[in-house]
Amino acid sequence: MSTTTTTTGAATDLLARPTSFSTAQRPVKIRLDRVTQTFPVRPEAGHRHGTTLTALQDVTLEIHDGEFLALVGPSGSGKSTLLDLLGGLTAPTSGRILIDGNPVSGTGHDRGIVFQQYALLPWKTALDNIAFGLTSTGAPRREARERARTYLDLVGLSGFADRYPHELSGGMKQRVAIARSLVYEPDILLMDEPFGALDAQTRERLQAELLGIWQHTGTTVVFITHSIEEAVFLGQRVAVLDTRPGRLKTVVRVDLDRSDPTADIRSDPAFVAARHHVWELLHSSGSAAVDQESHRTEGSTR
Ligand SMILES: Nc1ncnc2c1ncn2[C@@H]1O[C@H](COP(=O)(O)OP(=O)(O)OP(=O)(O)O)[C@@H](O)[C@H]1O
Ligand SMILES: [Mg+2]
Repeated sequence: MSTTTTTTGAATDLLARPTSFSTAQRPVKIRLDRVTQTFPVRPEAGHRHGTTLTALQDVTLEIHDGEFLALVGPSGSGKSTLLDLLGGLTAPTSGRILIDGNPVSGTGHDRGIVFQQYALLPWKTALDNIAFGLTSTGAPRREARERARTYLDLVGLSGFADRYPHELSGGMKQRVAIARSLVYEPDILLMDEPFGALDAQTRERLQAELLGIWQHTGTTVVFITHSIEEAVFLGQRVAVLDTRPGRLKTVVRVDLDRSDPTADIRSDPAFVAARHHVWELLHSSGSAAVDQESHRTEGSTR
């Protein structure tokens, strides 16, 4: 995808460009090579020296161009830490993160981030929240607003351009946040539990919409969630993180045909089997069997 932010034509072009579901043959987009992240922990009362907390340890993973990768793991297993690293908000203590073969050095418009909190500017309308980033990078206001409108349409909020965040529901706010990330036409979309605060129905609708957007844009997506069902529904592969310290336990491939938005994928035996598999992995305690499975599953995804 283009990272140009000043033309309006590109946004329309990408909507007309459906992507293939098979990404195994695509080049590697993101490579994590033995990524470790530690944080200093303040000394406890009565102690002179603090300790170190290892949030992520030796995480090695390849994510292909145009892939939808879901990331699950218990609370504290380093999911947000990993997303911050991919977004360039922090740098790893050791190991390397490469995007298109180049080390990540800081943030960039090639990566859009959607956080759990909507983080919209309350004094700006939905449209201006989306256009704001473009104008602040120098795009003319009219062009930025036109482009923002394309993405507002894409997330199904055509009639809500002039509403302020407090006039929008939680689901609508999250759609604006997604549109705001997409308006840069990022190569990579990083999402940290974006639907966590939504009711089940809105969540399901946004999941389906996100799949549609992904299919049309070809963006590489890394999607963090606490929900096994959500991970299996969305992810072509599901990466499972273990806790203390955060290690990559395994990567499960989910072979589902997601091309028909009206199909009841959740009843598909492949969906049920994959959900159960991920559930077992999350409920097991790092046994040798899990490690074996890790090699088998990861090897079979290439
Ligand atoms: N800036 C920081 N300084 C110190 N410790 C941190 C920092 N950021 C994260 N941690 C610690 O790193 C570990 C992983 O945190 P992280 O936020 O990545 O977990 P998570 O998997 O996203 O959890 P959750 O599912 O609850 O969001 C936690 O033990 C957390 O306390
Ligand atoms: Mg988190």
